[in-house]
Amino acid sequence: MTNKLVISLAKDKGGSTGSTAARYMAKEIAKEYPCVVIDLDYQPRNVTREHFGIEDPDLTMADVLRGNKNDDGGYDKVNLKDILIEVSPNLFIAPSSRKLKSIEQWLNEEVTKFVALRMAISKLDMKCAILIDVPTGLGTLSINALTACNYVISPVKADPNAWMDLGNVVNILPDIQAAANLTVTPVHLGCVVGAYRADWSRHTECLRSLAYHNYNVLGSIPMTESVTRRDCVLTHHYGLAVQKMWEAIRRDRKCQS
Ligand SMILES: Nc1ncnc2c1ncn2[C@@H]1O[C@H](COP(=O)(O)OP(=O)(O)OP(=O)(O)O)[C@@H](O)[C@H]1O
Ligand SMILES: [Mg+2]
Repeated sequence: MTNKLVISLAKDKGGSTGSTAARYMAKEIAKEYPCVVIDLDYQPRNVTREHFGIEDPDLTMADVLRGNKNDDGGYDKVNLKDILIEVSPNLFIAPSSRKLKSIEQWLNEEVTKFVALRMAISKLDMKCAILIDVPTGLGTLSINALTACNYVISPVKADPNAWMDLGNVVNILPDIQAAANLTVTPVHLGCVVGAYRADWSRHTECLRSLAYHNYNVLGSIPMTESVTRRDCVLTHHYGLAVQKMWEAIRRDRKCQS
């Protein structure tokens, strides 16, 4: 996946502000670069519906990963490019649907079960950055996201034990590389810490424990009770996180060259 920038937003715990991060980080990236959000989350409160307001799209990631049954009993897959919906200039979403849940079970029987998304992305003829909103946990769809990306960012809750959830994602990366026969392991760039529902001392404790365990914090997102101010606050803070993300990617590319 060297010709595209693919970043997975992967977490092991529900409600870690992953979809919020996908929405606001994608908006920031799209200011300079075409950005595609791939929504792999089949829950109703996903980035497709809750953040981009798209209800019942015709074609979704389910059609890309499996496709429609043809007369020969096989499946005709749809190209990733054909399902993209432009939500604002330069910002596209590959929407999710509830069907993805059964696709995950179906994928488990396939030889390509861990690399179906990687194959779909490799066929996408578009210069862009891709952000994948990965479902919670480390099921087959999540593993597909991790084999398809070159970078991983973890959204975490402002919780003193957040470093443990983060560890679950970071530690699995070499195993995934081996299982999918990849030549490179995706690089974990760091985390974005969503502070909602946390008091400030928990937030501070969380940042301290992440630093102690050597995790890079790309963004520390404050709690915003006020719904009217939320958009402005989140745009600002995720904007800063994206700047740090670019710095981390530049550092990584320098090391590799
Ligand atoms: N900074 C914030 N201040 C207040 N509320 C927030 C903030 N960030 C996120 N939220 C709210 O927290 C909830 C959970 O966030 P989100 O849906 O992004 O998490 P998630 O990790 O995608 O969850 P899931 O496990 O369901 O995929 C949402 O209702 C969202 O509106
Ligand atoms: Mg989500």
